[in-house]
Amino acid sequence: MPTVLVTGANRGLGLELVRQYRDDGWHVIACARKPAAATELQKLAAAQTERVEIHALDVTDFAAVDGLAAALRGRAIDVLLNNAGTMGAQSFATVGLEAGKFGAADFTDWAQTFRINTFAPMKMAEAFVEHVARSDQKKIVSISSIVGSIAKNNVGGLYAYRASKAALNAIMHSMGIDLARSHGICAVPLHPGWARTDMGGERADIDAVASVTGMRKVIAALALEKAGRFYMYDGSELPW
Ligand SMILES: NC(=O)c1ccc[n+]([C@@H]2O[C@H](COP(=O)([O-])OP(=O)(O)OC[C@H]3O[C@@H](n4cnc5c(N)ncnc54)[C@H](OP(=O)(O)O)[C@@H]3O)[C@@H](O)[C@H]2O)c1
Repeated sequence: MPTVLVTGANRGLGLELVRQYRDDGWHVIACARKPAAATELQKLAAAQTERVEIHALDVTDFAAVDGLAAALRGRAIDVLLNNAGTMGAQSFATVGLEAGKFGAADFTDWAQTFRINTFAPMKMAEAFVEHVARSDQKKIVSISSIVGSIAKNNVGGLYAYRASKAALNAIMHSMGIDLARSHGICAVPLHPGWARTDMGGERADIDAVASVTGMRKVIAALALEKAGRFYMYDGSELPW
């Protein structure tokens, strides 16, 4: 039975990732900031207790990341899925491109956005690399965004979120090169599509089920020659 670790597993795409991997027979290590308040996730776990284990994890608490890695030492993790993310205090779902517009930069908010979207996936990869290396599938996937693509940006705005995901893309590209060589691990950034979640809002193109169904296919097809490349949930490759 393969194992996947998902961060931000209590709602949105993270919760759907847990549901689909569980239903497909995987063992799921589901991480959420506040497990006691994660009622949907708890219901999923209670239905199949041997398949889903829940751990408290705020991904910006790097000591807690190290603590979880130590608690899980010796366990194989086939897919490490860095899903937790934020758009910062102003959300695209509520204010659209006005979120983080020029002239309104709040650098305290930027710092937190970068800590969640950019630093935490790097920290998670460093903490869990040996767990992934001892697995059969050996994959590290960070949920990025098409708005992190500089080539695809022809509308401007969203400074902090764009920059945090562009930096995440740079990290995953380097990680793809390094870990393919050192550990035989395939690491990639993956765009989930514009999906109807709290972050994506009601007007988004697809629902969480379609996004996660697509992403799971892309993840299943990952191989070392794809390491460090930027994919979309439908399998197409995105420019940087
Ligand atoms: N939806 C889209 O259209 C879309 C498009 C492109 C990329 N993405 C990316 O896809 C990923 C999932 O997005 P989503 O749409 O599911 O967003 P969402 O519905 O807003 O959910 C965000 C998740 O991240 C968790 N999270 C935030 N900060 C955290 C922290 N410090 N530690 C642990 N967990 C934390 C949240 O937990 P709490 O409940 O505790 O806050 C929640 O589980 C994100 O990386 C996002 O940037 C989404």
